[in-house]
Amino acid sequence: MTWFHEKSHTMEEEGGHDVSDLHWLKNHPLLLRGGSEPLRRRLYRVLRQAVVDGRLQAGAILPSTRSLADLLEMARNTVLYAYEQLAAEGYVRADRQGTVVCALGPRDTRTRPVATLPPLSGRSGGVQRPRSAEDQLRPFVPGNPGLDAFPWRVWQRVRARAERQTAAHEAGYRGAGGEPELRQAIATYLRASRGVDCGPQQVIVTEGTQEGLALCAMLLADAGDIAWIEHPGYGGAWAALRAAGLRCEPVTVDMHGMAPPSALWRQSPPRLIYTTPSHQYPLGSVLSLPRRLALLAQARAHGAWILEDDYDSEFRHAGPPLAAMQGLEPDAPVAYLGTFSKTMFPGLRLGFVVVPAAVVDRAEGLAGALWPRGRVADQRALAAFIDEGHFTRHLRCMRGLYAERQQALRAALARVWRWPGTVLGGDCGMHLVISLPDAVSDVAVAAAAAEHRLGPRALSSYGTGGPAGFNGLVLGYAHMPAETVGERVRLLVQAVSQADSAKAKAART
Ligand SMILES: Cc1ncc(COP(=O)(O)O)c(C=O)c1O
Repeated sequence: MTWFHEKSHTMEEEGGHDVSDLHWLKNHPLLLRGGSEPLRRRLYRVLRQAVVDGRLQAGAILPSTRSLADLLEMARNTVLYAYEQLAAEGYVRADRQGTVVCALGPRDTRTRPVATLPPLSGRSGGVQRPRSAEDQLRPFVPGNPGLDAFPWRVWQRVRARAERQTAAHEAGYRGAGGEPELRQAIATYLRASRGVDCGPQQVIVTEGTQEGLALCAMLLADAGDIAWIEHPGYGGAWAALRAAGLRCEPVTVDMHGMAPPSALWRQSPPRLIYTTPSHQYPLGSVLSLPRRLALLAQARAHGAWILEDDYDSEFRHAGPPLAAMQGLEPDAPVAYLGTFSKTMFPGLRLGFVVVPAAVVDRAEGLAGALWPRGRVADQRALAAFIDEGHFTRHLRCMRGLYAERQQALRAALARVWRWPGTVLGGDCGMHLVISLPDAVSDVAVAAAAAEHRLGPRALSSYGTGGPAGFNGLVLGYAHMPAETVGERVRLLVQAVSQADSAKAKAART
């Protein structure tokens, strides 16, 4: 049954004009070519394009389905389908004259200019594109956990059980903020291990820190507000805050973390302050207690929010960690961001933001409206993984493993590194930083290292407002088995030598 009632068509009325010459269709490559797409769909697409391009102009009357089918030597039903689809989408209409091409308004090509796209937003520009998945796993790329040592069997078992326990009705839209079991498990863990002062309702589950930052930017600031960001610092935070329309201002970090001078508070008071106090990213310094308290006091006095990114505090190799800033004072103006990208694996895409109790309602509402949460089984599995002790066991294991891998890296550097250099950042985390002499550009070394399929990152590229002012390499080690480290450091040394001699050669010529 079809609703498409074909009219016999003559061209006498309403300015319609016949397009009897559709012979060009016979040689159209899309119709000649075979392939998996049915012929009726291809005919529809060719005719649609002809209408959009203006080859078939508004008012033109198409041949009857029978004549077109004869012309193209195809079944009449094929043509009928194409006409019906075009009519359903408003490209043609069936009227007394026959099948008439509709005017497409501004898209009518008689008035349509050569295709140009409208401009893109300014705030989406300047964001560094992430490496490809393959390049991301190269030796020395920072930010990779040791996926080779993750307890996959245990996770798969817990994950499969959570999947089985998820009822059909739970696959619908879920409440904002995340699954209650996971919020509870995270709150319990954070209170015990990080001194975070929170109940489960304050935990908003996100798809990682990146989403947490976007949520905080929209919840706690307005477009055009100032956001301070550590310099050098985490490009992902810069990208998220800038894309939310904030004005990012770099705040220089020294070997003890962030210490904004009082003139800056006066001249450029921020609405948001992004910081990584437990392990400054990438330099590795720990924000001292006096600086933490000063930052909290100033933030309160100026009505600013602190975004505390606690991204790898779990991997502490020297002494106990300082407790989170969030728990230092009751009702601290802090949104505490955490991720399971390092403690579990990045592809899990689960993280969280802890917000003050007074903000929960608004945070849940906004998060629920912008990023409705699903993936019930993943969330439940993670809750069970934490509650049943697998998470703590895994962290303990990884702490030992990362200490061993870091040690292997330090030992290899001590054996073969030929330049004066300081190693920073080993007390915590998954990477080391090594300084380079001024004469050897870290960008040139990173490029030379890429030729050896290594992925160290140039320290100067961590600037959040121009070059970072540091020359060195960020060396991720957590994903490199200790026995592979020696050979990779040897290649790295070759890369530094290459960059060094290329520079010397350029200076001579
Ligand atoms: C400082 C910092 N915070 C957070 C993250 C993790 O982000 P996500 O949870 O979106 O994977 C990273 C990843 O490298 C990071 O370097």
